[in-house]
Amino acid sequence: MAGFLGGMRRSGNGLLLRASVIAAVGGLLFGYDTGVISGALLFIKSDLNASAVAQEWIVSSLLLGAMLGALISGYLADRISRKWTKVISGSIYVVGALGCALSISVPMLIGFRFLLGVSVGTASFVAPLYISEASPPRVRGGLVSFNQLAVTVGILLAYMMNFVFQGFTDNWRWMLGLGVVPGAVLAIGMLTVPHTPRWLVQQGRGEEAHKVLERLREGVEGAQVEQEIQDIKEANDAESAAKVRDLLRPEIRPLLLIGLGLAVFQQFVGINTVIYYAPTILSDTGLTKSTSITQTLFVGLTNLIFTVIAVLLIDRLGRRKLLLTGTVGLTLSLVLLAAYFSFGALQQHASYLALVGLLLYIASFAIGLGPVFWLMISEIYPTGIRSKAMSVATLVNWGANFLVAATFLSLGQVITRQGTFYLYAGLGVLAFLFFLKKVPETKDRSLENIQSDLIAKDSPGD
Ligand code: BGC
Repeated sequence: MAGFLGGMRRSGNGLLLRASVIAAVGGLLFGYDTGVISGALLFIKSDLNASAVAQEWIVSSLLLGAMLGALISGYLADRISRKWTKVISGSIYVVGALGCALSISVPMLIGFRFLLGVSVGTASFVAPLYISEASPPRVRGGLVSFNQLAVTVGILLAYMMNFVFQGFTDNWRWMLGLGVVPGAVLAIGMLTVPHTPRWLVQQGRGEEAHKVLERLREGVEGAQVEQEIQDIKEANDAESAAKVRDLLRPEIRPLLLIGLGLAVFQQFVGINTVIYYAPTILSDTGLTKSTSITQTLFVGLTNLIFTVIAVLLIDRLGRRKLLLTGTVGLTLSLVLLAAYFSFGALQQHASYLALVGLLLYIASFAIGLGPVFWLMISEIYPTGIRSKAMSVATLVNWGANFLVAATFLSLGQVITRQGTFYLYAGLGVLAFLFFLKKVPETKDRSLENIQSDLIAKDSPGD
């Protein structure tokens, strides 16, 4: 634990912590939306007379919006800054949440969910981008993972709101409308924090960057701050202004592949089938609806607790150890879930095994792939191209999320529920092999150092 907590103590830094927490509210928006819709949908269905197809659209319009958000904000984050992109994202969220709460028809709700998605897609990567660019190496993993922690807090809060408001009139409107609060906190909060030093250097505002860095590194020796700003400037000078097509440059391609591999596998191991459908999976084991909803709260809580553990360990043990261990754990839990649904005897005599499987699964995801994907894509790309590369990885992550969410129930009908879990387990094995071979260790190293190493290693002729 000394890693992250000790590092923060040594930084003695209020501004860095405050800026990271505020930026991470972006993750909370993301999580709240992911978690709230499953509960709200039960009531929207009857209130707005939504058909099965309409319900699918209500859920997935957000994912499509998020893809768009991820795409445009790669550009915005460079153009108008990470900070202002986040202010806009929070503001759009406020409008989207209000619009959803006041929707009087299915198309109106779908439209506002799409708008919310644009905000969520933006926030989902500008948050790790901002934090990673503001943090010193020794605590960067923990601070960037605040974002994933906020995602899990958002999911749990949403599950709790579903639980609390189910008996109210206009329940779903409250559930969706409450998103206004974190949206406003993000928009207003971001007005109070500085730009990242790396973005300022990229804009040719070196002096301002120096001042900001001094404030962010309060308590750190002047010479060290000087060195850090020099490294940032040198790395920036070495790069020409990047275009999207630069992502395909031979030296960047391997880094792109790492980001995309992490993005796809993070979703293809089926995480959001658990987040969206945990009550369905549990009620398929014979539990009543309300017991399933209550047990889903355990899933949300486990997700949160293990993410806290990841935040505390990630700068000490490193990214790879957590990623590889977590991936083994989640693959084994998927096999357990598949076995559970394969054997009638297990269902009869050990019905608790489904919940055990789900909890082990979510804990393993939370300790590894959950935080490590978002962290890694904020660390491995050179500054000039970072926001574009992250935007592409995030777009692919939301696209994969959409694909899995849209196919889980029908896959169950075609290859059975256990077949689906075996499939995800197979993908878990592939993910493990990919991570083992490709994903570098980035702990304790400056962003500039990580990139120069990765690029040197993969340059042709090396
Ligand atoms: C993933 C989300 C997922 C969440 C669960 C995030 O890292 O990107 O798709 O819902 O973790 O905690």
